[in-house]
Amino acid sequence: MLKNQDFYEKILKMAEDVKNNAYAPYSNFRVGAVLLTKSSKVYTGCNIENSSYGLTICAERVAVFKAVSEGEREFKILVLCADKDVFPCGACLQVLNEFSPEIEIVLKLKKEVKKFKLKDLLPYAFKLF
Ligand code: THU
Repeated sequence: MLKNQDFYEKILKMAEDVKNNAYAPYSNFRVGAVLLTKSSKVYTGCNIENSSYGLTICAERVAVFKAVSEGEREFKILVLCADKDVFPCGACLQVLNEFSPEIEIVLKLKKEVKKFKLKDLLPYAFKLF
């Protein structure tokens, strides 16, 4: 069993690694995401841009959609890193909220690692009912 600190270091490193797969020729802003499920599985994602700009998808949603498509719906931690300091966009927060409003969000910023609850970043998520 990995110690907590070792575990965070491992998933932070995975986020940096998957960032290298980002396809971001238009913004030159590469993003990497790692999603940990409650069942302790790990899914990664990077941003994938398109010349038709609106078709671009963020790293977080790639990770969530990979996980959900494999039957996972309960998430514990999302780690995010980018070439510069980054916060998750509202669209991705809304998608995360759909499945796991209690998820912890870990941001690997240039000078520090910051941890938030999803509710801190998106206090009034959209709800249909
Ligand atoms: N991007 C993400 O991958 N995640 C976010 O939360 C915000 C933005 C990507 C989309 C686009 O490829 C690039 O960053 C610049 O907006």
